[in-house]
Amino acid sequence: MTSFDFPGKYYEIMRGDFRDIHAETEFLSALVPAGGRVLDIGCGTGTNLRELGARGFSGLGIDQSERFIRYARDTAAATGARMPGGTDGTGVGYAHERAETFTTDERFDLVYSVFMTLNYLPRADLRQLLRKMRELLLPGGHVVLEFGHLLNFVEGFQPHTVAHHRGPDGILITRLARQSVNPHAANWRSEETLLVRERDGRVALYDNFYDQAVLTGPEVRELLTEAGLRVRAEYGGFRKEPVPFHGRGPLVIVATAAEEADHA
Ligand SMILES: C[S@@+](CC[C@H](N)C(=O)[O-])C[C@H]1O[C@@H](n2cnc3c(N)ncnc32)[C@H](O)[C@@H]1O
Repeated sequence: MTSFDFPGKYYEIMRGDFRDIHAETEFLSALVPAGGRVLDIGCGTGTNLRELGARGFSGLGIDQSERFIRYARDTAAATGARMPGGTDGTGVGYAHERAETFTTDERFDLVYSVFMTLNYLPRADLRQLLRKMRELLLPGGHVVLEFGHLLNFVEGFQPHTVAHHRGPDGILITRLARQSVNPHAANWRSEETLLVRERDGRVALYDNFYDQAVLTGPEVRELLTEAGLRVRAEYGGFRKEPVPFHGRGPLVIVATAAEEADHA
């Protein structure tokens, strides 16, 4: 179960504190031919796709959060990005869709899912999604996955968290989170309250709730193989850091169709 039903501008502020968008953009764009087309699975507020669109790539982002998709569309329109809906092969577009049920006749040079989005899928749906990612690739295309692995969850476990995020114009977001683990399902539950104070003193509260599957590297690699994908490279981050052998850290996997020649 996943909500992410709060204004996209607050998500962008918190994302900025956790992520290195420059490194992500460099990494992803290096895998796409000039003018190529990309698919962002669980695109959130469209952050990655917006940056790729600014570099001349076209693409489609899908997300289950209607509010985030609205933010992504409004922001793209406000910045003058070409936005034909993203389904006619040009520009950048966003669709309110769940990854499990999304279908398209299009094919892409790059299909990616970053910032732990895969972990939000019901475990049973992951196998099917990876197969779909494989089918959506153009010849020579790449899949990039960045997911939270077992140690991220274990080392990051705190029953209660309070964190502050400061945005532009004096916005202050206080995030209160409660985490609980269901060991039988390897499910990680987060219940958050976001307390937002705008510059004029107005205060708003948003509840956010999500379940995440605690994945392991071997499990994801096995699912990739089953899906007809071959791992070409693995990194511990978008700056191509080596994979962490101990402890937590991001796990980034680059894969291509199994029958492709080795060129990653
Ligand atoms: C941590 S955010 C990451 C968003 C984006 N990839 C980024 O890097 O900012 C996780 C996103 O996954 C989306 N999500 C969760 N489950 C999903 C599903 N089944 N289908 C599509 N989107 C999903 C949420 O709505 C949320 O926007």
